[in-house]
Amino acid sequence: MKLVVLLNALCIGLSLCFNGQLAELECPDDCDCHYFRINWVTDCSDSNLTEIPYDELSLSVYVLDLNNNQITDVGPFPHDIKMRRLQLADNLMTELKKESFAGLNYLIDADFSGNMITRVEPDCFDDSPGFITLELQGNPLEPVDGIFLSIKSLLYLDISNCGLKYLNPLFFANITALSTLDLSGNPLGVIDNKVFEPLSSLETLKMNGCNLTYIANYAFNSLENLKNLELSANMLTTDWSSVLDYLPRLEYLDLRNSQIRHLPESVFRNNTYLRTLILAQNELNDFDVSQTVGKLQQLDSLDLSFCNLTLPLSEDAFVNATKIRSLFLSGNSLFASDLLVALAPLSNLERLSLSNCGLTRLPDTFRNFKSLQELDISHNPLNDAFVKLLTPLDKLEYLNMGYSNLSYIAPTSFSKMTNMKRLVLSGNDLNNLEAGLFGNLTRLESLELNSCGLRRSINATLFFNNLTYTDLTELQLAGNPLQVSKSGPLLPRQLSRLLTLDLSNCNLTFLPPDAFYWTRNITTLILSGNHFSSADNLQFLELLPKLKVLDLRHNKLSSFSPKTIYLNPNVEKLKLIGNPWRCDCTVAELWDWANLEKGSLGILEGSTIAAEHVTVGKTNKRKKLLVCNYDTSQPLPIITKTVRGRRPFIKPQRVLTSTNRTWAKYVRESGCEQLPVLQRSPRAADLNYRRSELEPNTWAAAAISAAAVYITLMTIVGIAFVFTKKRRTPRTTPDKNN
Ligand SMILES: *[C@@H]1O[C@H](CO)[C@@H](O)[C@H](O)[C@H]1NC(C)=O
Ligand SMILES: *[C@@H]1O[C@H](CO)[C@@H](O)[C@H](O)[C@H]1NC(C)=O
Ligand SMILES: *[C@@H]1O[C@H](CO)[C@@H](O)[C@H](O)[C@H]1NC(C)=O
Ligand SMILES: *[C@@H]1O[C@H](CO)[C@@H](O)[C@H](O)[C@H]1NC(C)=O
Ligand SMILES: *[C@@H]1O[C@H](CO)[C@@H](O)[C@H](O)[C@H]1NC(C)=O
Ligand SMILES: *[C@@H]1O[C@H](CO)[C@@H](O)[C@H](O)[C@H]1NC(C)=O
Ligand SMILES: *[C@@H]1O[C@H](CO)[C@@H](O)[C@H](O)[C@H]1NC(C)=O
Ligand SMILES: *[C@@H]1O[C@H](CO)[C@@H](O)[C@H](O)[C@H]1NC(C)=O
Ligand SMILES: *[C@@H]1O[C@H](CO)[C@@H](O)[C@H](O)[C@H]1NC(C)=O
Ligand SMILES: *[C@@H]1O[C@H](CO)[C@@H](O)[C@H](O)[C@H]1NC(C)=O
Ligand SMILES: *[C@@H]1O[C@H](CO)[C@@H](O)[C@H](O)[C@H]1NC(C)=O
Ligand SMILES: *[C@@H]1O[C@H](CO)[C@@H](O)[C@H](O)[C@H]1NC(C)=O
Repeated sequence: MKLVVLLNALCIGLSLCFNGQLAELECPDDCDCHYFRINWVTDCSDSNLTEIPYDELSLSVYVLDLNNNQITDVGPFPHDIKMRRLQLADNLMTELKKESFAGLNYLIDADFSGNMITRVEPDCFDDSPGFITLELQGNPLEPVDGIFLSIKSLLYLDISNCGLKYLNPLFFANITALSTLDLSGNPLGVIDNKVFEPLSSLETLKMNGCNLTYIANYAFNSLENLKNLELSANMLTTDWSSVLDYLPRLEYLDLRNSQIRHLPESVFRNNTYLRTLILAQNELNDFDVSQTVGKLQQLDSLDLSFCNLTLPLSEDAFVNATKIRSLFLSGNSLFASDLLVALAPLSNLERLSLSNCGLTRLPDTFRNFKSLQELDISHNPLNDAFVKLLTPLDKLEYLNMGYSNLSYIAPTSFSKMTNMKRLVLSGNDLNNLEAGLFGNLTRLESLELNSCGLRRSINATLFFNNLTYTDLTELQLAGNPLQVSKSGPLLPRQLSRLLTLDLSNCNLTFLPPDAFYWTRNITTLILSGNHFSSADNLQFLELLPKLKVLDLRHNKLSSFSPKTIYLNPNVEKLKLIGNPWRCDCTVAELWDWANLEKGSLGILEGSTIAAEHVTVGKTNKRKKLLVCNYDTSQPLPIITKTVRGRRPFIKPQRVLTSTNRTWAKYVRESGCEQLPVLQRSPRAADLNYRRSELEPNTWAAAAISAAAVYITLMTIVGIAFVFTKKRRTPRTTPDKNN
């Protein structure tokens, strides 16, 4: 107890503690900073910045996120900065110059995607010996003569969609360590022999959508370590006789949608480790599956979707392909009678997709598939009567019969499928399900009934009335225009083990307070895309003490107090994006609840950049989507007030130009007092009582852990203290004119 008080005194005294754990470092006015693990993240994204706030940065910044601003020029940065990751996606840069990145000795990753960069100096990261990731996708690069980049350590390069028409033989000469290269979306047309010669370490090569017509015979002859090759969305009339011969380690090949009409029998002769082959969306009506892939001993998955196949290709098409465990034939117009013949040899099949095949009936062949675990027959205009042909599939664990025009399913259809784990019936008009239909699905884990036109929720009579379905943990009812009564449980008692319930887009304005009377174990509740407009209609949350994830995105809520979820102490994710939030102190209250009471802003989705967005290769660079609106009938406030507990502004007197604010910005400028201990609602009384009962035991543990924290803290505070002293020495402001 004393330790804790002492600790707090220390924190307040030195103003160095953050979340009671790590010392708070410098943070520019326009940005929002936090620790990710022990690393200082400075998040200046979406802030309309035209310049980088160099002199307000901490020298210990680990991630500097400047995505989606208006920055044209970069650096040099303070020379002793320890920045590891620099994010400058979606700005207005035109060049990458060596002088901009001078002295960044610690830099590992940089993201300049979505700028206007035309030119890159090959040696621009010479000062960063550990540099491994460069993202440049979506820039209008000018043609490159000679070496593009000279970075010994580079492992990951994304230059997709950069308008490159030609790769000269020296292009990759000085990035020989590269293991992943994405060239997709560049109109390259042809690939010459010498281009990839330096890349013998390459494991993943993506050239999707490159307008490729031709790949030279020896183009890949140095890529002996290549495992993954993607060549989809091209126009390959390549002479395939030896292109793939030099890829002995290839495991994954995607040739989807590349206008391939013919593949020679020998095309894969040297790719003995090929496990996944995707040939979807090519005109392969005369493709000889048996000869072409028959010898691939490791082949596990073959995708022939949308290939205009007209089965039987030849009567024994799959005779020699019996090792294949996953076969995708969706999107070919097939007939039940042909399938019966062609699929007969595939007795080892575990996964089969026949979706979108125009099937009006099903082949009576399913009794042959002794190992079939997953079957997708969705999006076929099936006649109700043929569903019974599936009855022999007693090993089936996944069945998708979605969007199949079914309106009636015979009550015995699933009676033998006692191994079923996931059943998808979405997109059928199922208002009249027969009593007992799901009765024997005693191992069911997930039931999907999205967009079934259901006006009433699941009826108890569908299940055995004396049984709790102990594995049934997920139910999806999204997109049904549910009409809910004022009171009474939404789901029957048999579903009492339910953990995840999806009720998104169900036209709901409320749910009765006892909606979850039988299903109190729910941990994930998805209510996005409904019409909830007031937290008063969320009383049903009181019955869900185990709730962890609450998704209320895209409703009509304008305010949400943490009091609404006082009886849900386990909440770890609150999704609130897309509601018309009002900028008022309830925003600050919820912010403080997440930050102080729950100990992490990460709980509020969209409040701050999430841990997963600090990693490489994400496509959506714009993350802070939790915004509120100032009341537009009032003049916009001029910010002068600094509130205790909130970070003060370095430059006072801020004039707002926009009524839309991210929550992060609003909380800081709002002048709303921080509430250190939030008021308990009366409803929470019994919970408090139980908490205090626990106290005698927990105090001993708390004291021990506090002591440990204290020792750690003293070390950190010590370091931070030395650090702040060092920072006080004046630093030269970077000269932005050179
Ligand atoms: C961004 O800044 C420009 C001026 O630099 C201003 O005209 C514009 O309104 C600002 N946009 C927002 C959304 O604040
Ligand atoms: C490429 O690498 C070689 C050898 O490491 C080096 O001599 C040369 O200067 C580099 N080229 C460029 C343009 O950096
Ligand atoms: C690829 O070629 C087609 C026509 O041949 C053209 O319309 C398209 O813009 C090209 N794609 C790229 C990325 O240049
Ligand atoms: C197959 O790959 C091996 C190993 O790279 C190579 O030695 C051999 O020549 C290749 N076979 C053919 C037919 O190219
Ligand atoms: C199947 O493989 C055997 C042995 O490799 C071969 O003789 C036969 O022609 C193949 N069948 C077809 C239809 O390709
Ligand atoms: C599919 O193949 C047939 C010939 O087998 C051809 O007439 C038809 O146009 C092809 N369909 C498509 C969508 O290319
Ligand atoms: C349910 O499954 C059991 C055991 O597999 C079987 O004996 C019984 O007939 C099935 N019930 C129905 C209604 O089919
Ligand atoms: C459940 O279904 C049965 C028969 O279909 C019907 O009689 C009963 O009213 C339904 N119960 C509810 C609560 O909808
Ligand atoms: C539950 O009811 C079903 C019929 O509704 C019956 O077949 C089964 O034996 C009963 N199980 C138990 C455990 O009572
Ligand atoms: C949604 O609910 C409203 C009443 O709350 C009703 O008027 C409307 O018809 C419903 N929409 C659908 C698609 O059922
Ligand atoms: C909730 O789950 C626990 C086990 O995790 C179980 O013992 C309990 O019966 C469940 N509650 C309900 C209402 O089924
Ligand atoms: C401000 O927010 C409103 C409502 O959320 C939205 O319609 C509008 O586009 C936003 N304006 C800007 C500049 O982001």
